[in-house]
Formats: sequence, C-alpha cells, structure tokens
Amino acid sequence: TKGAAMVTAVASRVQAQRKLIDTVLALFRLTQEQLVGVQDKMRAELEYGLKRDTHPLATVKMLPTYVCGMPDGTEKGKFLALDLGGTNFRVLLVKIRSGRRSVRMYNKIFAIPLEIMQGTGEELFDHIVQCIADFLDYMGLKGAQLPLGFTFSFPCRQASIDKGTLIGWTKGFKATDCEGEDVVDMLREAIKRRNEFDLDIVAVVNDTVGTMMTCGYEDPNCEIGLIAGTGSNLCYMEEMRNIEQVEGDEGKMCINTEWGGFGDNGCIDDIRTQYDKEVDEGSLNPGKQRYEKMTSGMYLGEIVRQILIDLTKQGLLFRGQISERLRTRGIFETKFLSQIESDRLALLQVRRILQQLGLDSTCEDSIVVKEVCGAVSQRAAQLCGAGLAAIVEKRREDQGLEHMRITVGVDGTLYKLHPHFSRLLQETVKELAPRCDVTFMLSEDGSGKGAALITAVAKRLQQAGKN
Ligand code: GLC
Repeated sequence: TKGAAMVTAVASRVQAQRKLIDTVLALFRLTQEQLVGVQDKMRAELEYGLKRDTHPLATVKMLPTYVCGMPDGTEKGKFLALDLGGTNFRVLLVKIRSGRRSVRMYNKIFAIPLEIMQGTGEELFDHIVQCIADFLDYMGLKGAQLPLGFTFSFPCRQASIDKGTLIGWTKGFKATDCEGEDVVDMLREAIKRRNEFDLDIVAVVNDTVGTMMTCGYEDPNCEIGLIAGTGSNLCYMEEMRNIEQVEGDEGKMCINTEWGGFGDNGCIDDIRTQYDKEVDEGSLNPGKQRYEKMTSGMYLGEIVRQILIDLTKQGLLFRGQISERLRTRGIFETKFLSQIESDRLALLQVRRILQQLGLDSTCEDSIVVKEVCGAVSQRAAQLCGAGLAAIVEKRREDQGLEHMRITVGVDGTLYKLHPHFSRLLQETVKELAPRCDVTFMLSEDGSGKGAALITAVAKRLQQAGKN
C-alpha cells in the first residue's frame, strides 16, 4: 500500500542520514594501531627536540627550565606569584612554612580584556603591574619587597631560572612586541614605569612545571607535570646527559616539552580531519600547535562547532538551518561540553543547554550533538594519553627498568571538569605503556603554589651562592 511505502521511504531516509552521521563520527575513532603510531611519532619528536643537531627544527621544543630538583621541605617565607596564561589571570600571596610543609595562599583573579591580550606588549605588562598594585593594596602590602615567581604559560627559551624569552604566543594571546623578548625584563620595565614599588623577580615558570613541583612537594615520585586545560602541555624530569642543549651530565633537569606543537611538521596529518584544519585556519596561530588544537579545551568546542556546521549543511541537523549562533566562534566552552556529556543529564537538559547557547534543537538533534561531543573529547583524551605513554616509556627505558612507577601531577579545566576525559586518558596510558604504573595526582592550584615553591628554592640557592 501507499502508506507502507511511505513508511519504508522514511525509514530508509533515516537510515541513510544515520550512515552519514556515522561516517563523520568514525573519523574521530582512532584504532589501537593509530594510537601506537601517535605514541611512536611523539617519541621520535621528543628525541629530535633533545638533540643538538635536530633541536633547531624540532616541533616539540623540549625547553630546559633550569629547575633541577624538588623542594626539600626547608623552604619558607612569603612570596608573590603571578599566574598568566590559563583560564584566569591571578596574583597570589603564598606563605610557605618549613617543616610541616604547609602552604597558605591568598589570591585575586583579574580579567584580562581581549583588547589587552591582543594589544601591545607594553599595554599587557602595564595591565599586569596594575593588577599587582591592586592586589598589594588590597592585602595591605604596599612597599613590601617580596620575591616573586612568575608563572608564564607560554613557550620560553630560558638561559637561567629568571630569564625567559618568549618564542611565540599560543592559545588566546597575541600581544605585539613580545616575541623574542625576555618576559622578565618586560615585567621589570613595566614595574619601573609605574615607579610605585619594587619587586624581586626570582623565577619564571611554566604552568606544567609549577604543577609538577606542587605535587612533588607531597610525592617525591612525581616527575611529570601535565596540563589539560585551555592549552595542552607536559614537563618531566630528564637526565642531564640526554639534554644536549645544556652543559653537564650530572643529575636531572625539568624539560618543558611544549608538546602542543607536535604535528606542526605534518607528521600526524593522516589523523587530522577537515574539521581540525578548519579550526586551525580560523585560529590566531594557523599551522601551529596542531596537537594542542586536537586535545585542549580552547579548541575542542570549536571542532564540535565545525562538525555541527557541516552536519547542518548536509541537512542532518537543526533542520538544515545554520543559525547566526552556530556561526559564532567560541560558543562551546569546556564547561558546556562537560555538561552536555555528563551521563546524569537527561536529553531534555541537553536541549536546554543548547537552547542557552542559542541553538534550537529537536530531541534527535540533541542526541547527535551529544555523540559529536563524545567523539571529539574521546579522541582528545586518547591522543593525550598516547603522548603521555611516549614519555613514561622513555623514562622507563632510560632508567633501564623492567617496570616503573611514576606519579604525574595534573591540572587544567578539561581534566578537572570533563566527565570522561581523565578516565579515557588513564585507560589509554595503561594500554599503551603496560610496564609503567602511572599514578595521577590532582594538583590543587599548581601554577601559583608551584611558582612560589620554585622561587623559594631559587632564593635559597641564590643566598647559598652569596655566602
Ligand atoms: C600552551 C602553552 C604552554 C602551556 C600550555 C598549558 O600549550 O604553549 O606553555 O603549558 O598551553 O597552559
């Protein structure tokens, strides 16, 4: 009959649509073999970064940090810390008491307006110093001459603990006249321009290093720091003999891998999708930080948005209508992805979130959106796991161990807020590095506390040097 024929036609259309959606989702499901491929390539790139001959062209920069040891518990005093480059800009006062290993912190969050993030370097640093002034005022500390640790979460070439030349901005920053400059000098000059107070800038620290230090304060087995947040990066303790850019063979030094740049030479293009390429092209730094753009909070929502646009164009979503909202960059923040993917959430609530984002969805739409988010974040967690597996396996082999235990200090909004990311990451590491027993330790406020701890150690060594 005619009715039955219509039902069959509708059913086969639904089936055909489902097939198209599945084809897109399949691009994000990596096989075990592909993940091992990523692990192997990451391993090769790490080695290039460490070797003198290949270092200049390496995409994983493997930057020496001049942090050579963990706090020993004797550190003490009051420190200021700045934390620039994560979700928030903060100024902190950190009090470390020796012996009991206790740390007290006071902090204030300041906004950095977009026009300052992407204005001139002078404006950016003047703004930072303005925030420090406000904080000192607020704490009643004007005039106090405190040692300061600067957590600056961007790739810096360091020649000592208190010097850091910015190689290039990443994430949402693009202030002019900073690349190639020493950010500690820029901060000092801004303090001078203001001519109100003096600060003793002792250390410039990447957020991964701060995170590792904070966890290392409690667990001496912690030799890796991982950030899965707005950006994605990792640092770890490497044998000095393997670091060809730095003189000396004794002991270890922390290396800031800047692994976000992995793939910038095209080595993982086989797993990049058209959506990844679109996200890259629409970013502040096209062609750069390709791995970061597949694994971190600042970009996952953008990948999702690109997929949704494509599915809508194909008539598979939102009744084929691309709304103004869907065309808007940055609408899917990590917190929305996390909410949409939460298992406790009924589909109706997913629709409500989409509604909040200005997207009108049917029940079917909300199912597809949830699947898209799941595929994108699963791939992110697995890729990040493959990278981490490469590092722990390297450490195990370098130490000639059959089996190795190691602790990873972790921080970042993606790791902390997302309902599945941390589990998927951990499962991937287990599978790809079965001979390593990896413990994950959440760092509480790693960048601030860590900067203070590193400053305390550096200060102690400085004073020891003077005597
Ligand atoms: C970006 C930065 C890196 C930082 C990471 C996490 O990858 O280049 O320095 O550690 O984001 O904030």
